[in-house]
Amino acid sequence: MREGFLGTLRCPDCSGELRVSDRRARSGDDLVDGELTCIGCGRTYAVESRIPIFVERSSYADGFGWQWNRFQKLQRDSYNGTHIVRDTILRRSGWKPEDLRGKSLLECGCGSGNDTEVLSEMAGTVVSFDLSSAVESQRPEVLARDNVLVMRADINRIPVREESFDIVYCHRVIQHTPDPRRAFASMVRHLRPGGTFFLHSYDLHWKALLHYRYWLRPVTRHLPYPAVFRALTIVGPVLYPVVGLLQRAAFLRIPLKLLVPFSNHDRVLRKNGSSLTRRERYEYSVLITFDALTPRFDRPSSADTLASWFAEEGLVDFRVMHRSPAVVLGRKPLRPGDDAANRAGSRRRSAPRREVPRVAGIRDQGLLPQESLNVM
Ligand SMILES: C[S@@+](CC[C@H](N)C(=O)[O-])C[C@H]1O[C@@H](n2cnc3c(N)ncnc32)[C@H](O)[C@@H]1O
Repeated sequence: MREGFLGTLRCPDCSGELRVSDRRARSGDDLVDGELTCIGCGRTYAVESRIPIFVERSSYADGFGWQWNRFQKLQRDSYNGTHIVRDTILRRSGWKPEDLRGKSLLECGCGSGNDTEVLSEMAGTVVSFDLSSAVESQRPEVLARDNVLVMRADINRIPVREESFDIVYCHRVIQHTPDPRRAFASMVRHLRPGGTFFLHSYDLHWKALLHYRYWLRPVTRHLPYPAVFRALTIVGPVLYPVVGLLQRAAFLRIPLKLLVPFSNHDRVLRKNGSSLTRRERYEYSVLITFDALTPRFDRPSSADTLASWFAEEGLVDFRVMHRSPAVVLGRKPLRPGDDAANRAGSRRRSAPRREVPRVAGIRDQGLLPQESLNVM
């Protein structure tokens, strides 16, 4: 971690400032291995391979660490030769790369950093964290970037200053927390007045709930990860080609999702110019299937529910960008007297707090290809 980020960090226990108390390995201002100590309560936090660790090593999210430390690279644009991650971020947010220029961005639940590598090419600074050991599978080149800090931390106790980020970004995470509403409130605290919130969730719609993960997960989430993985390697060679074949008929897609418990992203990867080998494309689908079956929590919400949370937290100008999956963007209002932009914001805030704008989703506008890789 670059020591320049110390000013942004706070103790998750007492919100005290942190100092470096051990510089076991460093390179210039880049702390590789060492220790941080809270000036307020004296608690210490290890820094390992540039990553400060603010949580216990094991949690309900261990499966994510397990899968991404096994399949580190497959989903990265920089490895698979596609722009799927970049395109998905820009399409769902409605941002252009220049909208992020010079902005400080807090990425909540970064996993193995598929989004981190893209966001850190566009934004001024990116602070990313995840509860699981998936952070250890982040690309070393990204971890070493001047403008990036990656941490292990809990979304309900984020170890950064309140109201300090221009953008808070949470993509495919909130449904995997035990209490999505609480996680949202926690993240909002770190958005600066005038800043933008990007929130994505799996959708709570009967069509989305038909996915095989919702009937298999109640069993598979209790199984040891190696057992699930082993089962997938047994059924995969049979189910993967069958799904690939049946996917060609559009009318079979919904029954397929429901009945055949295996994903196949082969066609989408090839369509997007993937440079992955045949074997890697198969492994990619094993990873997606494992990811669907093992999370301890999967609590989807509709876009309207997300929008109602934005209203309850006093965010303004919020828009439903997409309905399935649900994506909502909104803004934290400036404080009274800040500037003219605030006057516009205050007028909007006086609207009924429960009002949810029904904006046509991107899919409704025909901008999202039906067959997108990031269906989640
Ligand atoms: C489906 S993954 C999404 C990762 C990444 N955002 C992406 O789109 O590639 C969900 C992530 O949420 C993380 N997560 C779950 N609960 C969390 C919590 N309480 N605090 C931080 N991260 C959490 C998991 O560890 C996992 O990496």
